[in-house]
Amino acid sequence: MRIILSPSTQEAADTVAMMVLDKIESHPQSVLGLATGRTMEPVYKSMVDTMTKKPMHLEKCFFFMLDEYLGLPENHASSFKSYIEFHLVKPLNLHHDQFAFPPVHTSNLELAAENYERCLREAGGVDLQLLGIGTNGHIGFNEPGSLGDSRTRRILLTEETRLANKTQFKEGEMPREALSMGIGSILDAKSLIMLASGRSKADAIKYLMNHHDDPKCPATYLKSHPHFTLVLDPDAASKINLNI
Ligand code: F6R
Repeated sequence: MRIILSPSTQEAADTVAMMVLDKIESHPQSVLGLATGRTMEPVYKSMVDTMTKKPMHLEKCFFFMLDEYLGLPENHASSFKSYIEFHLVKPLNLHHDQFAFPPVHTSNLELAAENYERCLREAGGVDLQLLGIGTNGHIGFNEPGSLGDSRTRRILLTEETRLANKTQFKEGEMPREALSMGIGSILDAKSLIMLASGRSKADAIKYLMNHHDDPKCPATYLKSHPHFTLVLDPDAASKINLNI
């Protein structure tokens, strides 16, 4: 695991954005796995700002979204599809056919999840997967208890996750379930970058530093990946001792 300790939240986001853009520059046909959430907003903004100054060709890239809520109407303003539309697709003029979204609007979720896994394989796998982390150590929506070999599937959200995200929804609208790539699916990516920012992530980061392959904190499974980079802002790193 490589750890990058950034002097500010903005610089942490800029570092991640730069790593993504470097990947695309060196490998224009990159397959990228994208996370959503508040942590990623400054990353996508930084990518958009950089590309406004220095346009890049993204038309050969393909993007897999990591997860999506279940039970929301299509195009709901707080769906992850709407999120990425707002933060990346529109500002960068990307095409919808460059994206694969977890297929949540279907009656047979099990089959749809298998198809998503097949799409990942047929695309040759993800070259670079972006990840945030939940306060409970979840990655994607792999909540505590998820196993290291789990694949794309339907997941019941914990109350902690629902509480953390309920400000994005009107009263009573916060979904109870999601479809998420599994930990095994995430670990198949050739490289992983996790960004954690804010004091609310400090305990999860401390736990991550001290444990391995622990289902209580799904992020600990990432430490076995040969190309895992963890980028931290000062608050997220505030409970660990890096001795640097
Ligand atoms: C979202 C996702 C989640 C978030 C995590 C942190 O696609 O995969 O794991 O990264 O819940 O969310 P924020 O960044 O809003 O604190």
